[in-house]
Amino acid sequence: MALDTKINYQHMEKVRMLEFAELGDERGSLIVAEGGQDVPFEIKRVFYILGSDSTVVRGQHANRRTEFVLINVAGSSKVKVKDGEGNEVIYCLNKPNTGIYLPTMVWKEMYDFSPDSVLLCLASEHYDGTEYIRDFDEYVKEIKACTQA
Ligand code: TYD
Repeated sequence: MALDTKINYQHMEKVRMLEFAELGDERGSLIVAEGGQDVPFEIKRVFYILGSDSTVVRGQHANRRTEFVLINVAGSSKVKVKDGEGNEVIYCLNKPNTGIYLPTMVWKEMYDFSPDSVLLCLASEHYDGTEYIRDFDEYVKEIKACTQA
């Protein structure tokens, strides 16, 4: 575990916004996000979050193995990313042709959902509840363990 985490750790600086091609014409918009190209991993899982209101905070976890790209295909939301060492960054997702890339082992919270928010989530791995860290203290402990290793 410590070794895997060490390999995967580092990665607040890997968090970044991605922009996808808009191939719109008079019939409307068509936005493309290809796995392994626009999205920096092969996509194994897709899920989407809707019906969360402005009081809800989702996420609140880190993933040991899964990378994500989050895209507000409608409406808007915010994503707070923490690195377990006291740094945090907030991103606003409000355009269907942009998304945030989240590497492994960052803490993430999604919140401030607009009423029409549809948050599309692309994941690099199939769902496995055991690779989620849902306790922030445990997350900080794992980050500390790998930075001290
Ligand atoms: P959760 O991870 O708490 O959602 P969020 O990060 O958006 O707050 O997931 C809610 C429930 O859905 C939880 O019981 C796990 C389950 N789930 C799956 O079975 N498969 C999935 O791909 C995801 C994302 C969640």
